[in-house]
Amino acid sequence: MYDVAQIRADFPILSRQVNGKPLVYLDNGASAQKPRVVIDAITRAYAEEYSNVHRGLHYLSNLATEKYEGVRGTIARFLGAADEEEIVMNSGTTEGINTVAYGWAMPRMQAGDEIILSVMEHHANIVPWHFLRERQGVVLKWVDVDSTGALDPQAVIDAITPRTKLIAITHLSNVLGTVVDVKAICAAARDKGVAVLVDGSQAAVHMPVDVADIGCDFYAITGHKLYGPSGSGAIYIRRERMDEMIPFMGGGDMIREVHKDEVTWNDPPMKFEAGTPGIVQQIGLGVALDYMMGLGMENIAAHEAKLRNYTRSKLDGLNWLQVQGTTPDKAAIFSFTLDGAAHAHDISTILDKKGVAVRAGQHCTGPLMDHLGLNATCRASFGLYNTEAEVDTLVEALELAHELFA
Ligand code: ALA
Repeated sequence: MYDVAQIRADFPILSRQVNGKPLVYLDNGASAQKPRVVIDAITRAYAEEYSNVHRGLHYLSNLATEKYEGVRGTIARFLGAADEEEIVMNSGTTEGINTVAYGWAMPRMQAGDEIILSVMEHHANIVPWHFLRERQGVVLKWVDVDSTGALDPQAVIDAITPRTKLIAITHLSNVLGTVVDVKAICAAARDKGVAVLVDGSQAAVHMPVDVADIGCDFYAITGHKLYGPSGSGAIYIRRERMDEMIPFMGGGDMIREVHKDEVTWNDPPMKFEAGTPGIVQQIGLGVALDYMMGLGMENIAAHEAKLRNYTRSKLDGLNWLQVQGTTPDKAAIFSFTLDGAAHAHDISTILDKKGVAVRAGQHCTGPLMDHLGLNATCRASFGLYNTEAEVDTLVEALELAHELFA
């Protein structure tokens, strides 16, 4: 049984007060809180098990290497990757996408070649492609969402031309909560010889992910949203794509031999992991993923679906509030604006006074904000430990904000 009270007791920060009120943490889309097991694992790794990895022959180096390398298998299990060598560990999705941009796309894309993006991408899945546009004349093609925030997979497929090399698409919008049918897109793209990169930063937090079933070439995740440490993360890279890639960052660990006039690379995935990695961060991420898998991703998804339905029913009753993204199967992520002149920042400040933490602004999605014709929204994004009582507190705080600004 999914006992949310017991789960909440695993997260020390959830029992603190903010501005004299119990914390209601609804900013999970930006970063999630950490369970005690992750905090303890970080402390233990530094206090008892710390050394550099892959380098020493001494006891602690072997121990740290074993702990760190064990996480690669945990990530592979979490993502449904058949082979842990298809997992590159890194600092998060931004690094993962840049690895693909520099290592796979840059050397094989010419002026006029195309990358297809949806209008709801996060800047992390936009800006690296702008580098290719600016530097190499690559064309960015944008596919819109409809008025509910849904993305028709056929619209993405129809945008493919003989010049299309890559589709770079989110699995779950950080603003609208829209879930994208990436499996359908991958199947069509594969038939046409087009690679697909899926930004899984948000999706992997809220639903089971199986990269083998999805059939993608690249799937990027970020640890701090997955109840793990900031600076941790990974990207799944299909083996054939790895073989096509050149290394992105150069340094220790990613090489086999270095001479004055010659250098040879380590085998993948190490070829894509330069320098001393985030050793303790990754160890913490491994514990966080085990924690999530222990709860069961299906159970987390079911709990959050109930929260989504409850939140939707409550927000639907506020006729002065507009929610962006209304697809029925969306994640429990609610971006909204209020009637009147109140800026999202002012609303979030009032919510904060009631202990309710939300994000306000553009949420790193400039093209989506342009598409919606908005400067900013407030966003309440839920996680595995949130409750219906917290939704009630959010609604009370919103009513107060509405009264103040009406
Ligand atoms: N990508 C994070 C968010 O959506 C930071 O808030």
